[in-house]
Amino acid sequence: MSGGSEVREPVVHVAFDPDRAAGSLVSDVRRGLGQSPRTLPPKWLYDDRGSELFDQITRLPEYYPTEAERRLLAEHAADIVRLTGAPTVVELGSGTSDKTRTLLDAFTAGGQLRRFVPVDVSEATLRSAADMLSQRYPGLQVEALVGDFTLHLSHLPQDDRKVVAFLGGTIGNFYVEERAAFLGALADSLAPGDWLLLGTDVVKDADRLVAAYNDSQGVTAEFVTNSLAVLNRELDADFDLDAFRYVPLWDPAMERMDLRLRAEVPQQVTLPGADLVIDLAAGEEIRVEISSKFRPEGLRAELAAAGFAADHLWTDGDYALTLARRTD
Ligand code: SAH
Ligand code: TRP
Repeated sequence: MSGGSEVREPVVHVAFDPDRAAGSLVSDVRRGLGQSPRTLPPKWLYDDRGSELFDQITRLPEYYPTEAERRLLAEHAADIVRLTGAPTVVELGSGTSDKTRTLLDAFTAGGQLRRFVPVDVSEATLRSAADMLSQRYPGLQVEALVGDFTLHLSHLPQDDRKVVAFLGGTIGNFYVEERAAFLGALADSLAPGDWLLLGTDVVKDADRLVAAYNDSQGVTAEFVTNSLAVLNRELDADFDLDAFRYVPLWDPAMERMDLRLRAEVPQQVTLPGADLVIDLAAGEEIRVEISSKFRPEGLRAELAAAGFAADHLWTDGDYALTLARRTD
């Protein structure tokens, strides 16, 4: 045990009610599959298998954002500690919190960090991350929250100065209106002087973007297709996973990746748990996820509109890390 501090058991709060979640899956699916293009709600990508596949994505040579973000965190962690001096770090959509260790290393070296609050819908991933972090940082109180960051921001601690990290470009997975709503709700849940540390992917050459979402090993295709397996399991649906092809598209007008599954042949799919039957024409596509890419000016403006001043924006041209302060 280092420094004489004892390992503190992580505390895990569960805000996510599985029964309510099942109900929201049904309404999400009924609404989304009725739209044009048909859409699936992305938070259901991260069941245990999906979380495992995402972890593999972060190690793919084509998927540059993880390493770019890791480098930016390593370069600026000491600045982040000095500028914020916060005793509490929250991480939204924390997953394995792998890159976050770079930040926590700097915070513990700086001496003022007391508490780390990782928040994720994926309970198994969150619990194992919380155990790992408690072992690695004796003396740090890890208070994990199994929850939905679009619903449970009111469960975040209110008593300390805090930094809320939202990494991995996850903010890009919201639609434009949802993004504004999320940033507004986050600003409302923070006190003036609290901080948001935001990782965003940057608009770039379409070839590199498409490659990042279409790896040669097919891991990303499997990750996206796993969303149909989730519906088969949770709603007793009968999607034939082999009858779909993964189609990652760059949408230059919206400046986002649009990740779809295309029905290769006409098919009828029954989803008894959602009391739904859909007929897919040959070539019809289901949109599973978007991943928006940002420009620094646009990002600053969106943050300002929500009540955040982007005091620091660090970028290597491919990826950006923004430290924004909640204004009065
Ligand atoms: N921050 C990590 C993981 C990013 S993947 C990284 O940078 O590599 C997105 C993570 O957000 C997953 O762990 C997923 O389970 C979680 N997630 C997705 N939607 C969520 C939601 N609505 N509420 C809470 N967590 C969510
Ligand atoms: N936040 C990640 C991103 O937008 C999530 C992600 C990575 C993802 N690869 C994906 C989502 C493939 C769907 C499909 O980059």
